[in-house]
Amino acid sequence: MAVPAKRDLVSIEDLSTAEILELFRHADTFRDDLRAWSHICCGTIMATLFFEPSTRTRLSFESAMHRLGGGVITAADEKNTSRSKGESLADTVRVVGGSYADILVVRHPEDGAARVAARYARVPVVNGGDGAHEHPTQTLCDLYTLWKEKGRLEGLEIVLCGDLRYSRTIHSFCYALARFGANIVTMPYPGFELPDYVLHRLRREFGVQAATASVGDLPGIAGSSNAAAYLTASKPHQLALFTSLTNFEVNRIDAIYMTRAQRERHAGEETRNYPRLTRSTLGAAAAKDARIMHPLPRVDEIDYDVDDDPRSVYFRQAELGVPMRMALMAFLLGKIQLDAAPPAVFTVTPGAAAGAGFRCRNERCITNNEGVRYLNRDFRIRDAEQPPVLSCAYCEREVEARFVGNPLSRKAFRTSSSGAVEIPRPDRVYFESEDQAQAAGYDCEP
Ligand code: NCD
Repeated sequence: MAVPAKRDLVSIEDLSTAEILELFRHADTFRDDLRAWSHICCGTIMATLFFEPSTRTRLSFESAMHRLGGGVITAADEKNTSRSKGESLADTVRVVGGSYADILVVRHPEDGAARVAARYARVPVVNGGDGAHEHPTQTLCDLYTLWKEKGRLEGLEIVLCGDLRYSRTIHSFCYALARFGANIVTMPYPGFELPDYVLHRLRREFGVQAATASVGDLPGIAGSSNAAAYLTASKPHQLALFTSLTNFEVNRIDAIYMTRAQRERHAGEETRNYPRLTRSTLGAAAAKDARIMHPLPRVDEIDYDVDDDPRSVYFRQAELGVPMRMALMAFLLGKIQLDAAPPAVFTVTPGAAAGAGFRCRNERCITNNEGVRYLNRDFRIRDAEQPPVLSCAYCEREVEARFVGNPLSRKAFRTSSSGAVEIPRPDRVYFESEDQAQAAGYDCEP
């Protein structure tokens, strides 16, 4: 009998929408009696490899595994692992994923690290947060909380607030919200806006459009940002709204999602007067039915006297993390089956651009850091777009390819030209610019 391919959860995109909803139903079942499931993963071991600090993510995974009857081994402090001696993540997961453990949960400071772990480990890998890239299990907890609170996920109005640039929880959450057709209002701390690569991806993959919003009646957080953006799925019923929209008044908010300044990723960047949720913010009419969310840890972004407000659900998000992660692990370990179909598999073109000196633009990407020693630079290529878009197979940062070369003739052409079309697809080598093509030894056709 064929062994089913292992499933990893590196990006929230690794689960289909139907699978996510089905996992919620399993999480509900586990949650009905958390202590009744110790037969499910009996004899199974989970390893948590955490190369960055964590409280909730690691402990809720470990608690979930214990509740499923499995065992747990952990490397919770980078200083006590061979990483501090210079061991690569690839080598660590090759060793730990196998006879040591049947599933790995990895947290790492470099963007794209979880995909590296997934590629090198023989067992399923779950991303517990990789740099500023993604944190898909936090998103599962966030969506699960919203689903329980609001009874649906479709078409919600969500305000994202704070450090939207470096918060990996925000990035995974945005991709998921876009799939559910939510409208997203971004209220970043100035200088910490949602990065362009996230906005581009939201536009390309989910048809999400951006506009300027006014959420002037949210004191405290509104004051911190005079350029809130409104991101709306370009569905037919919303298009009319969008096209006439210049100063959209957000008058119904389903959730305000607050984040802390991710200081470990931007040491030295000023965050004075960081937005803060207070009781008066919650007094705003628009926030009447809003849920107040935060992935935690909170620093100063939410006043402690907001905790008792019935709309505050951040501790609930953390609590729901255990049944949610029980469902996820039982699924990845093959202990429960889902009826829902998995997402369509992405085509990865291994090393297509490597020989050409194409490098990921993201300086924080693992391919530009520890991976320099051993990783090929791989890109996913969407060449139906003009110009074609290459996204790093590890951190998913996208670049547009303006030139394409033929490695046989060593000639490069503008991607929009007829010469480009004549190069057989599998041979195409992409470049960001003419200079890059020339540096790789290609003659550029005018
Ligand atoms: C988040 C993280 O690590 O990205 N924490 C968590 O896992 N709940 C959010 C944060 O640290 O701000």
